[in-house]
Amino acid sequence: MPTRACITAVGGYVPETRLTNADLEKMVDTNDEWIKTRTGISERRILREPGKATSDMGAKAVEELLKKRNLSPLDIDCLICATVTPDMVFPATANIICDKIGAKNAWGFDQAAACSGFLFAVTTAAMFIESGRYKNVIVVGADKMSAIVDYSDRATCILFGDGAGAVLIEPSTDNSIGIKDSLLRTDGSGKEYLHMKAGGSLKPASIDTVLAKEHYAFQDGQPVFKFAVKGMADVSAELLERNGLTGDDIQWLVPHQANLRIIDATANRMGLPREKVMINIQKYGNTTAATIPLCLWDWEHQLKKGDNLVFAAFGGGFTWGATWITWAYDGKQAG
Ligand code: UT7
Repeated sequence: MPTRACITAVGGYVPETRLTNADLEKMVDTNDEWIKTRTGISERRILREPGKATSDMGAKAVEELLKKRNLSPLDIDCLICATVTPDMVFPATANIICDKIGAKNAWGFDQAAACSGFLFAVTTAAMFIESGRYKNVIVVGADKMSAIVDYSDRATCILFGDGAGAVLIEPSTDNSIGIKDSLLRTDGSGKEYLHMKAGGSLKPASIDTVLAKEHYAFQDGQPVFKFAVKGMADVSAELLERNGLTGDDIQWLVPHQANLRIIDATANRMGLPREKVMINIQKYGNTTAATIPLCLWDWEHQLKKGDNLVFAAFGGGFTWGATWITWAYDGKQAG
């Protein structure tokens, strides 16, 4: 009997400080109406405390999850952290999270796939479990986007927020549940539309790169929008088709929260009504690798064993993909 990898617990964390559209109106030439109509966002959370970074949010999400599942940090075999805002270029934020929570038996690494990072990491973790090698693998999606957002650039600063979500992945012999299929894609030629210009080996940090504001996230919104609509909808539709599923078989679409219009386009293509779509972009904005686990965190109590979920994401790189999961537990029993 093949081993199935199942999500068995969810944790999350968002900072208390809210950055509302009204706040942004005072910082750049924008308005609440434009932001809501074009993106669906009303406010985001910002990690303001000095000395706090992505790992602090990730550690809080993991600690909540361990408490819910009644596990010790020492039970963790491996922790993968999806992020584009690591605490430092190295060591990996996964290592720092493990140190902060006392996961002394775990190894780990960071997954760099921008907004698709959580999806890529979940798929990787599922293979570790399916191989029979590990029993408790944690996937964290965490980003402190406020660290790389230029708050004088109205095209990007209205979009992003900070947050972290985490899931525990465990083996099961019940073949009816678990992570069933993933369709993942990358296309490096998309880098010109969404990237950070400096700070890597191509263009190391210098006074010039700082003065030219090249350490912020750069996005050419319109082309990314077009690729995202097509990319996310295409893989989601293909995933359903190759598994003989239709929208009627799916209880929940869990989409990356970049833009409400992209979410709607994906749902329409899959034949899913709004009621079946997890949407929390209005209160968190785009938290990059954290969007999908933060949706699971917000909806966990409504999920039932046997529900079919499709995770779908699109991000810088370009990276995109979709994953089909049959939920493994009744959410009401959690925590
Ligand atoms: O998560 C990773 C992947 N990222 C995405 O999926 C994001 C994809 N892109 C988008 O979601 C959208 O392209 C944005 C939300 C970023 C922008 O929306 P848009 O409908 O593509 O707007 P636009 O860039 O075409 O700009 C339309 C107008 C422009 O003015 P003109 O040239 O028509 O006079 C912009 O200058 O809106 C202007 N504009 C703004 N106006 C008020 C741009 N930003 C703002 C703003 N407030 N914040």
